[in-house]
Amino acid sequence: METIVKKLDRNALKKEDFTEAVRILRSGGLVAFPTETVYGLGGNALDHKAATKIYAAKGRPSDNPLIVHIAEKEALRELAKDIPEVAWELAKRFWPGPLTMILKKSELVPDTTTGGLPTVAIRMPSDKIARMLIMESGLYLAAPSANASGRPSTTKASHVYEDLAGRIELILDGGESLIGLESTIIDLSEEKPVILRPGFLSREEMLSLLPGLEYDPALIAKTDGKDIVAKAPGMKYRHYAPKGNLVIYEGKKEAVIAAINRDIARRIEGGFSCAVLTTEESKADYSCPEIKSIGTRQREETIAASLFDALRSFDEGGIEYIFSESFSDGHLGMAIMNRLLKAAGYQVIHV
Ligand code: TXA
Ligand code: MG
Repeated sequence: METIVKKLDRNALKKEDFTEAVRILRSGGLVAFPTETVYGLGGNALDHKAATKIYAAKGRPSDNPLIVHIAEKEALRELAKDIPEVAWELAKRFWPGPLTMILKKSELVPDTTTGGLPTVAIRMPSDKIARMLIMESGLYLAAPSANASGRPSTTKASHVYEDLAGRIELILDGGESLIGLESTIIDLSEEKPVILRPGFLSREEMLSLLPGLEYDPALIAKTDGKDIVAKAPGMKYRHYAPKGNLVIYEGKKEAVIAAINRDIARRIEGGFSCAVLTTEESKADYSCPEIKSIGTRQREETIAASLFDALRSFDEGGIEYIFSESFSDGHLGMAIMNRLLKAAGYQVIHV
């Protein structure tokens, strides 16, 4: 199958921009589209055949459920049951936006979409293109991140093409995703509310509505999940990893720089290709052929927005050893480190 890439102008969106995408989705096909977090690979969420195609296109294990994307809050009533009052309050405050809620699923949602679970993940994205696509199609769109399973999520149409060309009908190109990290997932299907995946929307921002909100213990463990099993099935899989060996260095700034420079020198001597993952604050302090600054610590959102693109670029450059600083401070630190630790297979050197 040939994959068409259709470039859209977000400042002048027209109904006709979506005609082809809507035709494909209504006939059970797949369309990748931008959201404010990352690109999604969309299919009709209520059609089990479309859901099956999504798993196949990504090479994703079928027990790893999909998020259902909606354009109006009222859709909750159709997709979920026993909805707690706080879900409506969260929707009012944070939707549209980077929040996914897990609720008990209604009969309408096929088991294929939820990976066999009795619950369903629901999100209302804020991205204009995503919203218009959902509305014009008149469907609910099951959409995991539009990457091949195991690879970093996609924040540009070219990333999606790299991973999924020949496997899906259409990619809507809406430029770069604004946030660059996937949504925050909270589980409201049980007594105690739990964060299953940290994201741009922080725990602190939700505390006034959900005073008891805690992180899934598997997130805090900072290990590869062998000891504690994550509650979101997707969190247990190896993810985001570049082909090269990525190691994170944690400690005082000067000590980290010294240790990274020492280890780069050793690897270069051994004839290996190396890269550093750093920020504007310290990029001048390294001696390495490839220095990748992904933003500034003054504005963590710049780091979040470029992380996946940087991880992908190391593969393009055939880099064998990647040395990364740690990004654990600030309100986005938890979300950024959650992705980076997975990409590094939890290899951290404390200096
Ligand atoms: O920002 C996002 O959430 C993006 C955009 C496209 O919306 N989507 C995304 O989807 O990141 P995906 O499939 O890559 O990640 C969904 C995560 C997986 O870890 C999955 O296991 C978890 O959500 N999940 C989905 N349904 C669940 C459920 N019923 N219970 C627990 N975890 C669930
Ligand atoms: Mg994903």
